[in-house]
Amino acid sequence: LPMPTVRSDAPGSGPLVDSFGRIGRDLRVSVTDRCNLRCTYCMPAEGLPWLPKPEMLTDDELVRLIGLFVRLGVRQIRLTGGEPMLRKSLVSVVERIADLDPRPTIAMTTNGIGLDRLAAPLRAAGLDRVNVSLDTIDPQEFVALTRRDRLGDVEAGLKAAQDDGLTPVKVNAVAMRGINDEDVADLLAWCLDRGYELRFIEQMPLDAGHEWQRGTMVTAGEIRSELEKTYRLTPLDGRGSAPAERYLIDDGPHTVGIIASVSAPFCAACDRVRLTADGQLRNCLFANSESDLRGPLRDGADDADLEAIIRGEMWRKARGHGIGRPDFHQPDRPMSAIGG
Ligand code: 5AD
Ligand code: SF4
Repeated sequence: LPMPTVRSDAPGSGPLVDSFGRIGRDLRVSVTDRCNLRCTYCMPAEGLPWLPKPEMLTDDELVRLIGLFVRLGVRQIRLTGGEPMLRKSLVSVVERIADLDPRPTIAMTTNGIGLDRLAAPLRAAGLDRVNVSLDTIDPQEFVALTRRDRLGDVEAGLKAAQDDGLTPVKVNAVAMRGINDEDVADLLAWCLDRGYELRFIEQMPLDAGHEWQRGTMVTAGEIRSELEKTYRLTPLDGRGSAPAERYLIDDGPHTVGIIASVSAPFCAACDRVRLTADGQLRNCLFANSESDLRGPLRDGADDADLEAIIRGEMWRKARGHGIGRPDFHQPDRPMSAIGG
């Protein structure tokens, strides 16, 4: 008699599921690996060897792949980089994503530089909301963290996002020990004044220099304690697949998020999958392998072929990132090349 078949492979239909039952709903697309800042936790001062243009997905290739994901159940497209606004065709790419059926939610993670001019056209094209990365409102600390004197541009970008309806405007911040870790409450006060929703993210081992050390990382607990010197924080329930632990500030209604990506990973509820600017699919930020979609795409693969690659990559998603385990290996590509 034949052995009973044990399902060890991805299902051929239905939503994008992995072997632990998680479903992929949120596709993060890096539209360029370039950036106009040099955040120390991300890039070296001299930048990185950028992808040559021929290796990057064209707009048509991007939109075709995103359309395929949307038909496979992805509900939100988040455009990232590098700095996504450095892609010249971004407004047109957003317009084409907004034309997909079913229309996904379209979000963007940006450093905000140039958003003062692009917020209105991006909104008109169909962008729903933005997360702007800003770690400090102190000009000297900003330069120490990003190696560029562009705080004013980021502030102008945030204001335009708010004025042009890319709301709720969210601010993402990384706390770095000895630089901005004692000023997190100032950043929160500044965001509260302007109606921006602030979320802190623990620094993850995704720096190009591979210098991250668990011992120097400012933990979510430390950020909370620092904020509690100024504010009363009450934890809210209902985290769902959202990674941010949210806290009510004083008597509300405003909240602050603290994402303990390292110290309390949310891998069990992760619904994300990532497409790099050169067309590689990654099932996790910390995956040590990727599936090539660009090659097959350029070799004439049809949607069914691409779908099989996507389902296979999803199926192989690991249970967790394993940061802290002795066998943890930091991915070779930094955040800017993977897409935050
Ligand atoms: N750890 C945590 N967050 C990071 N970001 C970039 N590199 C890291 C890292 N090593 C943040 C950026 C931005 C988002 C894309 O991720 O500041 O907010
Ligand atoms: Fe650019 Fe973002 Fe990296 Fe900073 S963290 S250098 S803004 S890609």
